[in-house]
Amino acid sequence: MIKSVSMAKINTNYRKLQAGYLFPEIARRTAKFQSENPNADIIRLGIGDTTLPLTESVVIGMKNFIDELSVKNTYRGYGSEQGSQDLRDALANHYKKYGVEIDASEIFVSDGAKTDSSNIQSVFAPDSVISVQDPVYPVYVDSAVIGGLAGEYIDDSYDKLVYMPCNEENGFFPELPKQKVDIIYLCSPNNPTGTVATHEQLKRFVDYAMKHKAVIIFDAAYSAFIKDEALPRSIYEIEGAKTCAIEINSFSKWAGFTGVRLGWTIVPKDLVSENSEHGELNQVWNRRQSTMFNGASNIAQAGGVAVLSGQGQAESQKLIDYYMNNTKVIRDGLLDAGYEVYGGENAPYVWLKLPDGKSSWEFFDELLNKANIVGTPGSGFGNGGEGFFRLSAFGDANLTTEAIKRIKDKLSV
Ligand code: MLT
Repeated sequence: MIKSVSMAKINTNYRKLQAGYLFPEIARRTAKFQSENPNADIIRLGIGDTTLPLTESVVIGMKNFIDELSVKNTYRGYGSEQGSQDLRDALANHYKKYGVEIDASEIFVSDGAKTDSSNIQSVFAPDSVISVQDPVYPVYVDSAVIGGLAGEYIDDSYDKLVYMPCNEENGFFPELPKQKVDIIYLCSPNNPTGTVATHEQLKRFVDYAMKHKAVIIFDAAYSAFIKDEALPRSIYEIEGAKTCAIEINSFSKWAGFTGVRLGWTIVPKDLVSENSEHGELNQVWNRRQSTMFNGASNIAQAGGVAVLSGQGQAESQKLIDYYMNNTKVIRDGLLDAGYEVYGGENAPYVWLKLPDGKSSWEFFDELLNKANIVGTPGSGFGNGGEGFFRLSAFGDANLTTEAIKRIKDKLSV
C-alpha cells in the first residue's frame, strides 16, 4: 500500500511575480523590433549599462593580479568571503572623505549591489513589513515577493508591502510611512527618477527608523554622480544612521564594472533592530555571506583597489564627467523640445513626464518605432512610474546627441 507520496514543490511565490523582469522584457521587445526592421539604427538609452572601457589604472591593477595568479608562488585560490583586506581598508578610507568613519570589518565586498539588495532581506524576520519608494528599482520588490514577504498581488500592488509614493508634488522623495514598518528601502541618487535626497530628507527617515527600530536599506549605487557638494553621498553622513541603516554601493556605474561585477555592503556594528543586540546584524550578515558566498572575484577586487587609488579615482571621475555630459545633453534637449523633465543633475538618469496622458509602454513603442530609440517605461518601476519614462546617460556621447535630435525631429510634445 502506498501511504503518501512526498514530492518536490516549487516556491509558488514565483507565480506571484508580475510579468518578466523589466530589462529582459525591454531587450525582448527591442530584439523583435530589430528582427522586423533589420535596417533600423537603434540607439539604446534603456538599461543603465556602462559603455566606456575600463580605465588604465584598473586594467593595470587587474593585469598585474592575473600575472600573480599565473605563477605558482604567488597564485591564490579562495579569498576571504568578506573581501580582501586591501579593498576593505581602501573603502573604509574612502568614506573619510565624507566625514564618515566606517571600520573595515563593517564592509562586506560582494559581486554587486543588485545581489546584496535582495539577499539582505534574509537577515530579517519573514514577517517583516517592507516599505518601498514608488516608483522603485524592481529588484527590492521582486526579491520580497520571492521570499514571501510581499503578500498577494491585489489591485495592482502587493498587499504586504507599504508603498511610499514619489511624485512631482513631493519632489520624488516620499513622506514617512503612516504606519510602523520594519524595513525601508531608499535609493539615492534615485533609480529611476534621478533625484537626490537632501540631508534633511534623510534625517527624517533616520529619526523614524531610530524611533521605530526599523532598518533602512540605503542603495547608494549612483552616489559617485553627485556633483552638488551639499548633497549627502552616504546615509552615514546623517547623525544616528549607523544605528539604523545598511548601505549598499557598487563599482558598476562608478568605474564601468557592470560586467566585471564588484560591490559592497556596510552593516555597522552599531546597527540594531527590534530584537537584535549590538553587533548581531553584522555577525548575521557575515554568517550569511560565509555560508552562501565565496567572495567576489579576486581579479575584480584587484580592479576595485585600483579604482580607489588617487590615480584610479581621477580616471573614474572622467568616466562620470562623460556620462554627466550626456545627461546634460538629454536634459537640455528635452527641455528645449518642451518636455517636463526631472532628475539628471546629480544622477545619470533623466525622468521624463509624458505628454497627453500617454502611457509609458505607449511611449516606449512610439519612441522605438518613430525614432528607433530604446528607453525604459516608467511603469516598469511600479504604478508610481506610469506616465513617465527614463532615459539613461550611459550611452555613447555622439549617439546620445543623435537620439535627442531624433526625438526633436520625429516626436511631437
Ligand atoms: C538600471 O538600468 O536600472 C540598472 O542598470 C539596473 C541594475 O543596475 O541592475
